[in-house]
Amino acid sequence: MEYFTTSGDAAKRATECAIVGLYANGALDAGAGEIDEGSGGLLGKLKKSGDISGKLGQASLIPAPAKVKCKRVLVVGLGKKSEFGVRQYRKALDAAFGALSSTGVTEAVSYLHRDKVADTDAYYLARYAAQTLGDRLYRFTKMKSSNRDGGLKLKKLGFGVDSKADGDAALDGARHGQAIVRGMDLARELGNLPANVCTPSYLSEEAGRLAKHYRPLSVEVLEEKDMERLGMGALLSVTAGAEEPAKLIVMNYRGGADDEPPVVLVGKGITFDTGGISLKPAPAMDEMKFDMCGAAAVIGTMQSVAAMQLPINLMVLVPTCENMPSGRATRPGDIVKSMSGKTIEILNTDAEGRLILCDALTYAQRYEPAALIDVATLTGACVIALGNHNSGLMANDDELAEQLLAAGRRADDTAWRLPMGEDYEKQLKSNFADFANVGGREGGAITAACFLSKFTRDATWAHLDIAGTAWRSGNRKGASGRPVPLLADYLIERAGARD
Ligand code: BES
Ligand code: MN
Ligand code: ZN
Repeated sequence: MEYFTTSGDAAKRATECAIVGLYANGALDAGAGEIDEGSGGLLGKLKKSGDISGKLGQASLIPAPAKVKCKRVLVVGLGKKSEFGVRQYRKALDAAFGALSSTGVTEAVSYLHRDKVADTDAYYLARYAAQTLGDRLYRFTKMKSSNRDGGLKLKKLGFGVDSKADGDAALDGARHGQAIVRGMDLARELGNLPANVCTPSYLSEEAGRLAKHYRPLSVEVLEEKDMERLGMGALLSVTAGAEEPAKLIVMNYRGGADDEPPVVLVGKGITFDTGGISLKPAPAMDEMKFDMCGAAAVIGTMQSVAAMQLPINLMVLVPTCENMPSGRATRPGDIVKSMSGKTIEILNTDAEGRLILCDALTYAQRYEPAALIDVATLTGACVIALGNHNSGLMANDDELAEQLLAAGRRADDTAWRLPMGEDYEKQLKSNFADFANVGGREGGAITAACFLSKFTRDATWAHLDIAGTAWRSGNRKGASGRPVPLLADYLIERAGARD
């Protein structure tokens, strides 16, 4: 997709399609007003005859309007003016793209953002536009034998702007938006691939491919024998039942100053979670191919950061393996020693994510991270607590927590903070080892985070539980690409890359 900006009267701008808005009360937005005037009151007439509607998300295509320079006008309902915010803007724009899908339009100019949208600016509006388009264009076709396309033909999207400053901001936003979409597309693709294709080795190769593409990025992959040497008994206990070899992927992006400590992202990369000997029930078990969506999100974020060439140092660690039952699998009650030296009683082999993450978190300490953030489809309990709308956020540092929450709000990829503390931590007591890997049903998302916090030492650390947000179930089943937008926004802000 190519993005451009244009200024001046919408009626006088030659384009295949001008996208303008109509509010629920019948008021025309800035672009629609200009088109109405230039066409001798066309929109007013269509409003009266009921051919265009201000209902949010209703789109009407007007072919060949007289007296204006655009070949088509697409009028989109914006809903109530007082309620017009980011979500409404994205919905209206998506409706416009939906209407264009059944046309051959390859180029369009959107004026939808020219009226102020609540709580945002030209940079974000262009970014949302790129992301909204990205959501619509992404399709998982790799495993289908016939690849019938159809749908949106759009190749060029313009933003009508009122000032040079807004134009520059919009182009920045579109560029960042596109980089975020590339990261999300990669995260979704890796998530959607089945576990017989997307193995730990496949993820390692994918990381290697990225490193070939971007100069400041290098990749190293630790093998099981390296893990043994490092004493990663927790990670190794999860892969014990699997034939596929486990990997620890280490990606190093050096866009910042040599002496600047990196942000370290750690992503859970269970390429399939059967539960192990604590076997999961059959219904929806196929969805456990998505149990590497944390890994996919941090690799996707790396792709976005590299595409934006952000001036920061970023490391991505991906502990990755399968969780399988077999004669060699770890049993409930087994006690293992983690890389940190702490011993863990594995009461439930289905609480495997925290076991691979804890050794990766210990390993991360060697990079003395400025911030350490892990991302994991960690607990069903988080889905019960927050549903599919917010990722769960737990942290040992209020400032980092706030920064991540704010990034999620700006990126329209929200998280919600859950508490931690001693009372929850006590639930992890074990009679036989330093602690157990599960803390009972109550507060399950939180006790999982408490488990991880025992391995973060004094790092500034946050944990994102994306079990509810990383993929959709039902007839729109598929990976969402979340929380790439949140993480990318946090890193853009950190890099000061917006001015
Ligand atoms: N990958 C799952 C968490 C999960 C389950 C995510 C369902 C999304 C949907 C994780 O490894 C797991 O099995 N967690 C257990 C922990 C329990 C045994 C303490 C869970 O949530 O049931
Ligand atoms: Mn599990
Ligand atoms: Zn899991």
